[in-house]
Amino acid sequence: MGLERVQAISQQSMSINTIPHEFIRSENEQPVITTVHGAILEVPTIDLNDTDEEKLVGMIAKASSEWGLFQIVNHGIPSEVISNLQKVGKEFFELPQEEKEVYAKPQGSKSVEGYGTQLQRELEGKKGWVDHLFHRVWPPSVVDYKFWPVNPPSYREANEQYTNYLRNVADKLLKCLSLGLGLKEHEMKAAVGGDDLEYLLKINYYPPCPQPDLVLGVVAHTDMSTLTLLVPNEVQGLQVSRDGQWYDVKYIPDALIVHIGDQIEIFSNGKYKAVLHRTTVNKDATRMSWPVFLEPPSDQLIGPHPRLVGEGNLTKYKTKKYGDYMYCKLNKIPQ
Ligand code: SIN
Ligand code: FE2
Repeated sequence: MGLERVQAISQQSMSINTIPHEFIRSENEQPVITTVHGAILEVPTIDLNDTDEEKLVGMIAKASSEWGLFQIVNHGIPSEVISNLQKVGKEFFELPQEEKEVYAKPQGSKSVEGYGTQLQRELEGKKGWVDHLFHRVWPPSVVDYKFWPVNPPSYREANEQYTNYLRNVADKLLKCLSLGLGLKEHEMKAAVGGDDLEYLLKINYYPPCPQPDLVLGVVAHTDMSTLTLLVPNEVQGLQVSRDGQWYDVKYIPDALIVHIGDQIEIFSNGKYKAVLHRTTVNKDATRMSWPVFLEPPSDQLIGPHPRLVGEGNLTKYKTKKYGDYMYCKLNKIPQ
């Protein structure tokens, strides 16, 4: 089992300076061919502590319509809380392989939770250069500590602290996004599950790769959740698609990266756009990231808000249960 982990493959590959063929992308995906080089994209950066609420709502709505991705600063999460989250996650991935395998996603499990290497086979049987750990962090009724590492010992505390701060950030963003659609501030959150909204943490571990030009970490996708709030480490790797071209995203220290996911695009009837993104990996350094996906409960029905359709606006999306949406997306069944 351990031999299938990209972390182990990385160690072998670094010594022979070449990688197994199933990681090598076709030419239309290879970052060396498909990235606009020398252009680091500055995505909108928003001060979440701006006291001018109308301005804040306007900026968030604009970034969500035109980009589907933005960074937030002054989000209220102390940098120590973020660096602790990063530290304990890194320490987990640096444990001996057999200690990590204790948390491996159980075979046949329907949930994504656990340590693993890839969610599903990609087209053409290619693999992404990344391992991961998934576990829910909120609300308490859906948390299963079986998937939370006991090592390092401060793992749980660091993750719980981060989650507590993150919930305030998420509430503020959902409120602004709702107001930005001309709705009441609570309407968006209520529509995507209210207090049952589930916070799913993923840690991505992208080990060094001797041929980074030819591989991808995570392939091009939009997130199927509502919002994703992400902390990266210092290694470049997130790319977004703009006008059909791929660009590196410029990181701002201590900022959180916000992705609009499919469910908010649907709820807004297309006013807000889910962002198409992917990740690249590095020759010498390990890249890591900590996205938290805000997911509706699986039986939550999500569709365009009635007030955003009509008067000449067509309904652009079907209304369906989040669980059914996920099933179709994962199995590549048209929505
Ligand atoms: C992802 O989109 O799944 C990963 C994003 C990242 O690692 O920055
Ligand atoms: Fe993503």
